[in-house]
Amino acid sequence: MSSSDDHQHAPGSSEPRELSNPVLWTVGLLVSLVGLAWIFFHFKQVGREHAAGEPVWTLPAQASAGPDHAALIADRSAAVLDRGEVLYGKNCASCHGAQGDSNPSNINPLPRNFHVDAFKNPLGAGPYGFWSVLTNGYGAAMPAFRNLSADERYAVVHFVSETWMKPTNKSYLANDDAKISAQIPAPGAGGANSEAAIDPRAIVPPETTYQLMAAVSRRATAEREPLARWMADAGTDVGPELAPAFAELRRMFPYQVGRMERLYAASKAQDKAAFVNCLVAEDGSGSADKYFSLMPESTLTKLYARLAETATRTPSTPR
Ligand code: HEC
Repeated sequence: MSSSDDHQHAPGSSEPRELSNPVLWTVGLLVSLVGLAWIFFHFKQVGREHAAGEPVWTLPAQASAGPDHAALIADRSAAVLDRGEVLYGKNCASCHGAQGDSNPSNINPLPRNFHVDAFKNPLGAGPYGFWSVLTNGYGAAMPAFRNLSADERYAVVHFVSETWMKPTNKSYLANDDAKISAQIPAPGAGGANSEAAIDPRAIVPPETTYQLMAAVSRRATAEREPLARWMADAGTDVGPELAPAFAELRRMFPYQVGRMERLYAASKAQDKAAFVNCLVAEDGSGSADKYFSLMPESTLTKLYARLAETATRTPSTPR
């Protein structure tokens, strides 16, 4: 038997039976889906029962509050300065120099020389101003150091201030200066620059916000009303051919108001080309609308006739 004969079985010859079958696959998939669903709900239930007696978790209120700035500013112990020195070497020396005075890089603007340069940020060179620079960064070239914790940032501040600024830098300001102490936020208050300053859930919008939102929402509803009336008007007592198309239009309507407005305008203007374009090509995804582009031409024409006729006699015009 030549190889080409292999495929030419006479009818009724004993061809091996096909083992695969679409029904088999479908049933198999369904069974595994049911199995997966069972596993999901089973373990969900197990979890529920397990957690039944547990207290409800709430985040401690302190979690959203800022650090105790006054206490961290006051603590300039040797341990803190040592910690700051290590952190400075790791995080700052590459740009500000190991001794805080050289600019080993070609960064522009130049990193501050802590021995002599003045600080430019609006809070100045006091401990809180310095800390805020590390929290928020400064300008385009000085990065923020939120990877350091609040007390680590203060440790660096104290190391730099005590070691290099205090002896020679005229811009150095201790926190016993009245202007500096006034900046320091109360314990837990976070301060204007703290990342933990505001818990969004704690913001209560003014009463007028709700009035405004309600008015906007009512107006949007009012604007849709004529469109909805048009749609309902045109969709009543249509034959079985058009009924599914109207069902589809009613489904789309709440989500694609702009498209419905254009459809109404095209119908009212008796512009069939614009009507078809709006239905077929404009589904918002940039590709053709599957439902309407697959519709037979004759049905589309009937749909157009129906909507255009209704639009021209709808008394109140949408926007
Ligand atoms: C990538 C380089 C780079 C690193 C790393 C860096 N800085 Fe800077 N820093 C700069 C530059 C550049 C400026 C100047 C920015 C400007 O003037 O716009 C600056 C400015 C500053 C200022 C002055 C802010 C002001 O008010 O004028 C302070 C304070 C400062 N850095 C502290 C630090 C500390 C502390 C560290 C380490 C935790 C650090 N910087 C790490 C580049 C760096």
